[in-house]
Amino acid sequence: MTNRQQMNIGAYLVGSGMHVASWRHPLASPNASIDIDELIGQAQLAEKGKFDFVFSADSLAINHESHPQIVNRFDPIILSTALATATRKIGIAATASTTYSEPYVLARQFASVDHISKGRAGWNVVTTADATGETAKNFSRDHHWEHDHRYKRAEEFVDIVKGLWDSWEDDAFVYDKKHDIFYDKEKVHEINYTGEYFQVKGPLNIARSKQGQPVVFQAGASQPGQRLAARTGEAIFTMWDNIDQAKQHYQKLKNQLKDFNRKEDELIILQGISPIVALSKEAAEERFYELYALTDPYESLKFVSGYMGNVDFSKYALDTPASEVEFPEVNSIQSNFLEMKAIIDEDKDLTVGDLYGRFFGPGRKDGFIGTPTQIADEMEKWWREKATDGFMIQFPLAPRDLQDFVELVVPILQERGIFRKDYDGDTLRDHLGLQKPVNQFVTNYTEV
Ligand SMILES: Cc1cc2nc3c(=O)[nH]c(=O)nc-3n(C[C@H](O)[C@H](O)[C@H](O)COP(=O)(O)O)c2cc1C
Repeated sequence: MTNRQQMNIGAYLVGSGMHVASWRHPLASPNASIDIDELIGQAQLAEKGKFDFVFSADSLAINHESHPQIVNRFDPIILSTALATATRKIGIAATASTTYSEPYVLARQFASVDHISKGRAGWNVVTTADATGETAKNFSRDHHWEHDHRYKRAEEFVDIVKGLWDSWEDDAFVYDKKHDIFYDKEKVHEINYTGEYFQVKGPLNIARSKQGQPVVFQAGASQPGQRLAARTGEAIFTMWDNIDQAKQHYQKLKNQLKDFNRKEDELIILQGISPIVALSKEAAEERFYELYALTDPYESLKFVSGYMGNVDFSKYALDTPASEVEFPEVNSIQSNFLEMKAIIDEDKDLTVGDLYGRFFGPGRKDGFIGTPTQIADEMEKWWREKATDGFMIQFPLAPRDLQDFVELVVPILQERGIFRKDYDGDTLRDHLGLQKPVNQFVTNYTEV
């Protein structure tokens, strides 16, 4: 099942596209984020391209500065059930927050998606990147909890969810009509968890799924974020700025696995990219500038501001050196902030007007704007040089860029033998080359 000779690829579903101005493009459907036919179409397109999974992100507060495709969107877990019944093979991952939910509820919801999809679910564990600074107010709290506290709580949360997912042994339900035995009472387990933040008894009211447990995705890049990844994450999203940085962190994260008695192949790393592909380099660049021209500089700076402590960029002329901006302290999306700030401090030529394109523009990493071969070359390079195990693709304009990627880039990767020509398994774990987890309550485990 595991084939580390090949890269893994996921598609980020964000309605009309990841670019903040995508909805204004002539080809875009502005209500794509709330149009189930559109989203199913994108998931089916990704499945046609043999992608490992599609992913829906989430936040729990919006404001006028939010990306337009996130002010009006589905709850990702509920969306996952619709995507599951409209696809057959592709994995379906969704974000849910440990800061603003209860472990029992989430364990049950993701286990349900895992059954509905027949073993294709994934949970992206977040502590909530609170770009608006407003999330706490939607949950009867007066502030967004401090970063490290959120991660400590997340560790407990994930342990409980994983425990609950193991409530039932794989052969617990015997459905013996003749002897009136619905399930074997010896094979159901309470977790009886008591920690600093939670007390949860269990068992969960749903069986284990075909893949044992949904795959745990995670994206924390700070120290506590990496610890959570090394401790319990299985597929990790990264967003490093360049290949050298990515390589360094790839190894650093893989090295941390041994602290938790885990092996390197128990966790895969997926770098976020926003490629723009076209038949010629010039045509791809034209697509880039077309989106750029649709972007109002100060509107897009408001989006940047969500990552940078909600600093008010409107106070600055666009040609102000970015290093002259005064940034406040950031609690919410800490690692992103620190990385962006370091780039600003180092690159004295960067102006305020450059910031959206530098940090969020399509193809911002060298080489991801170009011909199909150029994009394939760049992906192969990142993968072969162990900067990443695969990619989380944030298509700037959807479905156009997804469709072109599937038709133009995927065949090249397949021809080179570094991406699957067809699915050779049925579950998300099969696709990602991750083992079915051993049930923690079973001592003599045989796979059923
Ligand atoms: C590809 C990707 C997807 C993410 N999706 C979400 C999301 O849906 N919701 C969220 O609150 N944060 C999301 N994040 C942010 C991370 O969870 C995390 O907060 C961020 O990477 C900063 O790391 P830190 O929390 O360790 O500082 C995402 C990050 C990446 C790279």
